Amino acid sequence: PAKVRIRHLQDAKERGRPFSMLTSYDQFSAQVFEAAGIDVLLVGDSVGTTVLGHESTTATTHQDMVAFTGAVSRSVHRPLIVADLAFGTYQTGPADAVRHGVELVRAGAEMVKLEGGQAFAPHVRTLVDSGIPVMGHLGFTPQSVNALSGHRVQGRDQAGADRLAEDALALQEAGVSAIVLELVPAAVSARITEVLSIPTIGIGAGPHCDGQVLVWQDMAGLSGFEGRFVKRFANLRAELQRAAAEYREEVGSRTYPAAEHSFE
Ligand code: KIV
Ligand code: NA
Repeated sequence: PAKVRIRHLQDAKERGRPFSMLTSYDQFSAQVFEAAGIDVLLVGDSVGTTVLGHESTTATTHQDMVAFTGAVSRSVHRPLIVADLAFGTYQTGPADAVRHGVELVRAGAEMVKLEGGQAFAPHVRTLVDSGIPVMGHLGFTPQSVNALSGHRVQGRDQAGADRLAEDALALQEAGVSAIVLELVPAAVSARITEVLSIPTIGIGAGPHCDGQVLVWQDMAGLSGFEGRFVKRFANLRAELQRAAAEYREEVGSRTYPAAEHSFE
């Protein structure tokens, strides 16, 4: 199958065919998702909380993003690879956004994602003018978890919904190629998806977005995270625990390694 590029996401929206994005941070998950036909791999700053053991994505560094972006980009050919700009690498201004965006592209990202609305239109414009495609991220934006007083659905009231729609239009105007909508009421993301000419990608944002995204360890039941918006398509935590416990038992009973695992 052909390499996924920005225009394919745009085509998907125009044809009303939803596309899928999953986070990925390493070789084997990336290869599995490519084989499964996932269109977009997001090297999210969620790597900080899913892999590195931090409490918040505000702890994820640029160096983390460069390392994990490299791992994913070296491992697959077909999916579009998007990497998050880490907290603190773009909030300080458009020039810093470009400097860090360049390094993510050098590591293998084909698009970079940043969080925020109108206030970040100049950053988006400068990145796009530099030849770096940008994905926006609105609604609940995890790097602002403290300012937002925790993980909460955004845009529940009319004023909040209007502000989200204005932010989405401002990002589109500034040149983003797509926008993630996180923890947004389904009716609000439906309205934004309708108004925008570029694709929306939902996470906890209902069924009307042009694409969907989930953190892979949540989707596959490895993290044990339980959120209303997450569906567990597998129970990897239980399966991996079973395998590890069986291995431990077989080592203890000298069942493993058997003759066939040993060299003459
Ligand atoms: O870092 C991440 O995993 C994300 C998605 C949840 C959209 O930004
Ligand atoms: Na992120």
